[in-house]
Parts: sequence; structure tokens; C-alpha cells
Amino acid sequence: MKAKLIDGKALSAKIRAQISLDAARFERSRGRKAGLAVILSGDDPASQIYVRNKIAACGECGIKSFAYYPPGDAPESELIGLIEGLNADKNVDGILVQLPLPRGFCEPRVLKAVSPQKDVDGFHAENAGNLLLGNDCLAPCTPSGVVELIKSTGEPIEGKRAVVIGRSNIVGKPAAVMLLAENATVTVCHSRTRDLPALTRSADILVVAVGKKEFVRGDMIKPGAIVIDVGMNRENGKLYGDVEFAEAQNVAGHITPVPGGVGPMTITMLLKNTLKAAEKNG
Ligand code: GUN
Repeated sequence: MKAKLIDGKALSAKIRAQISLDAARFERSRGRKAGLAVILSGDDPASQIYVRNKIAACGECGIKSFAYYPPGDAPESELIGLIEGLNADKNVDGILVQLPLPRGFCEPRVLKAVSPQKDVDGFHAENAGNLLLGNDCLAPCTPSGVVELIKSTGEPIEGKRAVVIGRSNIVGKPAAVMLLAENATVTVCHSRTRDLPALTRSADILVVAVGKKEFVRGDMIKPGAIVIDVGMNRENGKLYGDVEFAEAQNVAGHITPVPGGVGPMTITMLLKNTLKAAEKNG
């Protein structure tokens, strides 16, 4: 039997409808729209697409966006100065610095400059630490979307064996922490993991965030598993996931497509975080 599709576009639309209502309520009570500042330094083509989509989504949900495009060769102090100005701006509730930064920037130093209260990406050490401790925080958007997609299947997470492939600060590590908070038994795999297929075949929930086109094949998947493909690999203008979809669909119980799975949910969680920050700070 073919796996059921987990439709990230449909789930996003449902959550965004609620965000639009919440954004309108915020505007009525505070006399201003919730605001998100988006900074894109340099000219990375994939980042340009992501940023354009984020700005469009803000407009559709009644969130005001402020876009900044500093040149990629500007000094880091200028970028940090821009962030500090936005930290102090009462109309800005969230600040997003699109990654990767151009060569020469110190990413941790730049991310540290974002006020933790406005860190809607959840990348600041304070938010990352609070996530690990189980405290309320702004959590990273892609892993938040991953958990929502898993929950949308109606299958319980508690007690399940979850395997996350990838250990990035943006996706793999926080996804593992969030699944642990949902009482899954979590294994994090990476480039030095031995006998990866044996581990992935044990996974009731498999989250793949490696950044390699069709890295996970059908024979690496446990029959009936929930498979979440975080991959966004562009080749000749086409988008490919980290999972070989046709093979995986014959084995998994539920699977996200690429595109139309995790991608729309990342932006939806960004909008949700912006409103959360606005309601707390505004
Ligand atoms: N680059 C890739 N994913 C992300 C993300 O979720 N947020 C930001 N700011 N940059 C990214």
C-alpha cells in the first residue's frame, strides 16, 4: 500500500488562517500591525527565493514586513548596527537574518546580536538553551514545522523510536530536542554514524535533514514509518528532497512531499513566532 501524503501546504493554510485572525486581533488591540524585519545580506539565489516567500507570507497574514538588503561585502559592524537599530524599534517584533551569511561574516556573532525576545528564528543561544531545558522560548521554525507535520498524521509520538539524520543547529539538533520533549526515543545520526541503514530501519519516525538529493532510499525505511523530508536540493531549476520519494512511498506509512511538505511549514512557524513575540513584547 502507498504511504499517505502529509500535505504541508494544506496544514500551513489551516494554521495561517488562524494566524491571520490572531494578527488582526493584535492590530485591533495595539493599533499597529505585528512587524517582522528580514535581513538578506549578499546575493545567494536560494536565499532570495526564501526571503521573497517569507515577505509575501507576512503580507497575506496581516503582518508588516521590513526588508533590508545590505551588500554582502559591507563590514560586519554595519550589519550588527542594523540589527541593534531593529532591536530598539518598537514596530519590529521579530528579526530574521537569512542564512547563510556571505563569506567573511562570523555567523554566531551576528546571530548573538539579535535580541532573544525578537529572535523569531530561535537561533540565539538563549532560545536554544531554553529549548533544551524545556522552557518557553522562540523555537526554530523548520523543526517546529516537522513536529506539527508528524502530529497531523494523528499517530502518537510518545514512546516511538525517532531517528533524525543531520545534526545542524538549525534543524537536526533542535528537531531531536523537540521530539524528545514529545517523549519519543531519539537517535541523532550524522556523517560519522556507522551502519546508518540499520538505524534508519529501526525508526518509527524518520526525519531527514542531510542536504543530499535522494540520500535515503526505500530499503532504509521501516515499513509503515512516518518519513519527514527536510531536503531542498535544487538541480536544474527542480527541487529534490533528501528522500527518494517513489521508493519511499512504497514502504512508509506517511511521507512529506518535496516541494509541499516541510517548506511551507517553516514559513508558517515563522509567522507564528512573530505573533508570539509581538504579543509578549508589544
Ligand atoms: N537558511 C536556511 N534555513 C533558514 C531558516 O530557517 N532561517 C534563516 N534565517 N535562514 C535559513
